[in-house]
Amino acid sequence: MKAIIENKNIVLGVSGGIAAYKSVELLRLMVKRGANVRVIMTKNARWFVGPLTFKALSGQPVCTDLFENGEDASIRHIDWAGEADAVVIAPATANIIGKLANGVADDALSTFILAVTCPMILCPSMNSQMYESKAVQRNIERLKADGHFVIDPDSGQLACGTTGPGRLPEPEDILDRLIYYLSPKDLKGKRLLVTAGPTRESIDPVRFISNPSSGKMGFAVAKAAEKRGGDVTLITGPTNLADLNNVKMLKVNTAQGMAEAVFSHMEHADIIIKVAAVSDYRPKEQTEQKIKKDNISELVVFLEENPDILKELGRRKKNQILVGFAAETENLEKHSQKKLTEKNLDLIVGNIVGRPSSGFDAETNKATLFYKDGTTEPLPTMEKDDLAHVLLDRILQL
Ligand SMILES: Cc1cc2nc3c(=O)[nH]c(=O)nc-3n(C[C@H](O)[C@H](O)[C@H](O)COP(=O)(O)O)c2cc1C
Repeated sequence: MKAIIENKNIVLGVSGGIAAYKSVELLRLMVKRGANVRVIMTKNARWFVGPLTFKALSGQPVCTDLFENGEDASIRHIDWAGEADAVVIAPATANIIGKLANGVADDALSTFILAVTCPMILCPSMNSQMYESKAVQRNIERLKADGHFVIDPDSGQLACGTTGPGRLPEPEDILDRLIYYLSPKDLKGKRLLVTAGPTRESIDPVRFISNPSSGKMGFAVAKAAEKRGGDVTLITGPTNLADLNNVKMLKVNTAQGMAEAVFSHMEHADIIIKVAAVSDYRPKEQTEQKIKKDNISELVVFLEENPDILKELGRRKKNQILVGFAAETENLEKHSQKKLTEKNLDLIVGNIVGRPSSGFDAETNKATLFYKDGTTEPLPTMEKDDLAHVLLDRILQL
């Protein structure tokens, strides 16, 4: 599945709030993902950001006035409404929210919105007292009841100096929710357990054995599954990645911690996808204090085996789909096939690690899928997000 907003017609509505500057970045992100974005601004929004900025970034005329002469004889607000696949209002002022909830059409944006039939996502942003006022809350509830999507504002320090709810979420998060609302929900009703990241096996309180896994692939799988309506639990080792929206996040450190978390959640999962790079071994002993190098020229660390989580999952699974990942440096097919059979998997994603475009920490991956029936499917190099969707497509076919 390609980026869901690629080639989609999206209208970005900008009203006169202090956070209008963030909608510039939102526009840029949507254009980067291949969306065809048109901007409609309220007249008051022009106090905050100039239409020229939106025009330059979208490559399209910006509509600010219902009665301005367009380049053609069309009625722009009706044409744009008919052509839109989605509408995002960010920021949505208390004023525009009030107008939309009551069907007022007295400017370009509010008139356009009345003609819209595609999904509409509102991002309220204002001072906390305004946001919490009965009128604004009542209007938001009414818009939700009318079938529109509302993204709750973030809490924090606001431009007006108060602290509380009302901040426009970061553009990345708004884009994330837009993609969620537009994605087909083919995993609805399915519970997925996904693991990600490395584990850390302590030698002493300040040193550990680990691997370069960034967690990006496992997070991509969890994120894609959530977008498609899955009920997702992500068990992750230490990473630098931000928590995912609408995903139950469980954080562990060691292979043993990962094993405990996985086994206590596996029963409730329909699909288990093990992407984590779990250490096969851990130091037999962990010292309580930092090992000092005084008078030690050679240090021997004895390692003992960690639980083989994937193998145990394969042994315990009942009517569940179990998918593993194999990160190899050679003989990909041989090692992947062996793991597939020995661990009773339904599918294994084999990838050669240690190349700039594939494996640990890369943004892209080049993988081959090995199925239980002996078939293999080599895939081209692709973004980890795209690979996650291809993998979920295949899992749904199993
Ligand atoms: C400096 C300044 C910042 C403002 N920020 C906000 C805001 O963040 N949210 C909001 O709802 N209104 C805000 N307002 C008030 C709106 O601009 C005002 O209600 C206006 O009528 C909104 O018009 P519009 O919805 O047509 O754009 C702000 C006003 C000023 C002067």
